[in-house]
Amino acid sequence: MKDFWNERYSQAEYIYGEDPNAFFKESIDKLNPGRILLPAEGEGRNAVYAASRGWQVEAFDQSAQGQVKATQLADKAGVSISYTLSEGIHPDYSLESFDVIAFIYTHTAPDIRTTFHSDLLPYLKSGGKVILEGFSKGHYQHQQSNPHAGGPPEKDMLYSLEEIPLLFPNLGIILLSEVEITLSEGVAHKGEASVIRYIGEKR
Ligand SMILES: C[S@@+](CC[C@H](N)C(=O)[O-])C[C@H]1O[C@@H](n2cnc3c(N)ncnc32)[C@H](O)[C@@H]1O
Repeated sequence: MKDFWNERYSQAEYIYGEDPNAFFKESIDKLNPGRILLPAEGEGRNAVYAASRGWQVEAFDQSAQGQVKATQLADKAGVSISYTLSEGIHPDYSLESFDVIAFIYTHTAPDIRTTFHSDLLPYLKSGGKVILEGFSKGHYQHQQSNPHAGGPPEKDMLYSLEEIPLLFPNLGIILLSEVEITLSEGVAHKGEASVIRYIGEKR
């Protein structure tokens, strides 16, 4: 999978664009800036936006090419982000040190899906929030009719409403919904989409 993403990120263009995901932007714009973790952050669009709003940003991804482009985007925006190369196993963060952990289209392989999400919760402060947007299983129908709809072709890599509380046990649910939206994120997330949106809070 690492080779797949390095290849995808090898073009000059940012495949999901340079602007942040809309739900991510709307969600963090309501919060006071603090420390934020962005797992599987790819080319850095969300990390750079958060940094430009005064957040202290930690990001990680398995793709070295993603890291290169995220660093270039940060330089272009004149902001600083910390971006570590890591394949599923999270880097060495301090416990309870993040105000927000945001999972934006973090469709990992099914065998590491639970650990990839749940194992990061000890790094969230009490009162801290998890923000997630990702394709739901209902997105499969859009993928069949639109090659630019985005998302993994494997149905078991798509999110469902039922599994979110299992991925984030013990968090209070502020928002959990499955919605139909129109995505316009670069060349790779384009058109009708079915997504899960979630905000959880560590009590
Ligand atoms: C759809 S992209 C989303 C990138 C970014 N979050 C965004 O919204 O622009 C998925 C990303 O997940 C990363 N990824 C998938 N599995 C991973 C893993 N096990 N460890 C680290 N990164 C992973 C890929 O390298 C890729 O950059």
